[in-house]
Amino acid sequence: MFSANGISCAYGESTVLRNVNMDIKKGQVIALMGRNGVGKTTFLKTIMGKMKLRSGSFHFNTENISHWKSEKRAQAGIGYVPQGRDIFPYLTVKENLILGLEARGKSEKDLPGDIYKIFPDLKKILNRKGGDLSGGQQQQLAIARILVTEPKMILLDEPTEGIQPSIVQQIENTIRMIKEQGNISILLVEQYMEFALRLADVCYIMERGEITYQSNVSDLSRDDVKIRLAI
Ligand SMILES: Nc1ncnc2c1ncn2[C@@H]1O[C@H](COP(=O)(O)OP(=O)(O)OP(=O)(O)O)[C@@H](O)[C@H]1O
Ligand SMILES: [Mg+2]
Repeated sequence: MFSANGISCAYGESTVLRNVNMDIKKGQVIALMGRNGVGKTTFLKTIMGKMKLRSGSFHFNTENISHWKSEKRAQAGIGYVPQGRDIFPYLTVKENLILGLEARGKSEKDLPGDIYKIFPDLKKILNRKGGDLSGGQQQQLAIARILVTEPKMILLDEPTEGIQPSIVQQIENTIRMIKEQGNISILLVEQYMEFALRLADVCYIMERGEITYQSNVSDLSRDDVKIRLAI
């Protein structure tokens, strides 16, 4: 349902992505791992149309979306949860959710009724300000804000970054519940290897802008992964 074909891009003179290829099927979770600064976030930005490509193309549901504006890609069902989460601190949880809907031309009445099944904790804090939430709650809210727009694919950038170990399990449960629904694909950028491998079907590793390793998680070698992540 999604493919990246030979994606290269640069910041000025410095090449950041080199010939990146990726295929994502409906309902799959793909883990993209790699050390700091290898280009993981940049790759997500190119998928969202926030970076100019030097070469390559993206296909989403058989359409070539490479020249589409960011808004059109989002409208078509690609949801982006950026690194650092970008919650509006002075708005309440509920207002943050509604803003997510409005950004897609929808309104409060379109809030899916089952959203609090996946995020029972958010229901208890709907009137709390985004800035007063813990890191884990903000991450849940950031994912919920995208999920209410009913995306077909979600790009998740380091959801466990800066989150207490005890809360990581909640984030994992959330992603697993989305996966179990079976109709949303997830591209999970993550440095926490065990977390990523528990959730993913396929693992890609990026080093200096290139994919240097790719394997189904079911037959992957943890040593191969560890060497490339140097952990
Ligand atoms: N706006 C920018 N202008 C110039 N160079 C940039 C810019 N943003 C990122 N870079 C560089 O591009 C490279 C890739 O950065 P990117 O943020 O994609 O890495 P990352 O894999 O997401 O890292 P991290 O794990 O730290 O989030 C890095 O060398 C970074 O310094
Ligand atoms: Mg990053």
